[in-house]
Amino acid sequence: MKNRELFGGRIAWVTGASSGIGEALVYEFVRLGARVIASSNDPEGLDRIKNRCGDRSGMVVIVPFDLAETGNIKEIVDSQINSLGKIDFLLNIGGISQRARIEDTPLWLDRKIFEINYFGTIALTKAVLPYMVSRKSGHILATSSISGRFGFPLRSAYSASKQAIHGFFETLYLENKSSNIRASVIIPGRVITQISLHALDGEGNEHGKLDDGQAKGLTPEKAAKKIIRGIITDKREILVGRSELLLLYIRRIWPWLFFRIADKIRST
Ligand SMILES: NC(=O)c1ccc[n+]([C@@H]2O[C@H](COP(=O)([O-])OP(=O)(O)OC[C@H]3O[C@@H](n4cnc5c(N)ncnc54)[C@H](OP(=O)(O)O)[C@@H]3O)[C@@H](O)[C@H]2O)c1
Repeated sequence: MKNRELFGGRIAWVTGASSGIGEALVYEFVRLGARVIASSNDPEGLDRIKNRCGDRSGMVVIVPFDLAETGNIKEIVDSQINSLGKIDFLLNIGGISQRARIEDTPLWLDRKIFEINYFGTIALTKAVLPYMVSRKSGHILATSSISGRFGFPLRSAYSASKQAIHGFFETLYLENKSSNIRASVIIPGRVITQISLHALDGEGNEHGKLDDGQAKGLTPEKAAKKIIRGIITDKREILVGRSELLLLYIRRIWPWLFFRIADKIRST
């Protein structure tokens, strides 16, 4: 089946849609003929993305909300189901990173990173899942990171929040496979986005710099295409990156080597 036939007329909900990987996914889904619910905490940014879809901007509905404040998430989801009827794909892309040592990271900041990366993500997922189960159809994706597979300097809460994503979404898959629900975890290495600029330091301020290593990463457009391919081929884990992905295998096969390398590249 051609990609446009697979995605045409489908509804894809993308969080983190105002920038980076999520933004590129909005364009890719629209190009493939899907309708998109685009979310982030930045209504103006989302409006800009919608307008960039040109004569297809009518295929994009913007639904801003803060992943750290999901008390009313059920109402938000119910209202989208009432107007669009279904959700075929939920892509939990929104997230925030960290650049602070453990002793410089107060507990409120650990909690904030978890609220956005983990609790916000699972709150939306839990609100969408029953609708997918009742239709016996749907694919839910969540975004981890290579540092969701190992610890890394200056990213204690980030790494921990991403490791939690694997536990939740693998369980979701196993529990709902018989209801024809698919679940995948996206594991990006380095993608050239705003992620390091918006990463939080120990005071909760933005790091404000594009890390050197990240600048050598994949473009968001290439990342979005890899994610679409991962959906089509129904991968449990969708790896998105270049040579940095080797760290995943090194960590598993030669842990001692991983710890040497991680220590050397800590500042990139
Ligand atoms: N780029 C990489 O190299 C890389 C590597 C590993 C993993 N990842 C993961 O990939 C995902 C996408 O990141 P990206 O690289 O595309 O970075 P990005 O350009 O900074 O995009 C992050 C997105 O998350 C949204 N977001 C952040 N805090 C939010 C909140 N409180 N409520 C709602 N939305 C919020 C942002 O929207 P606002 O406009 O509302 O802030 C933005 O749309 C993240 O989960 C990240 O951890 C990226």
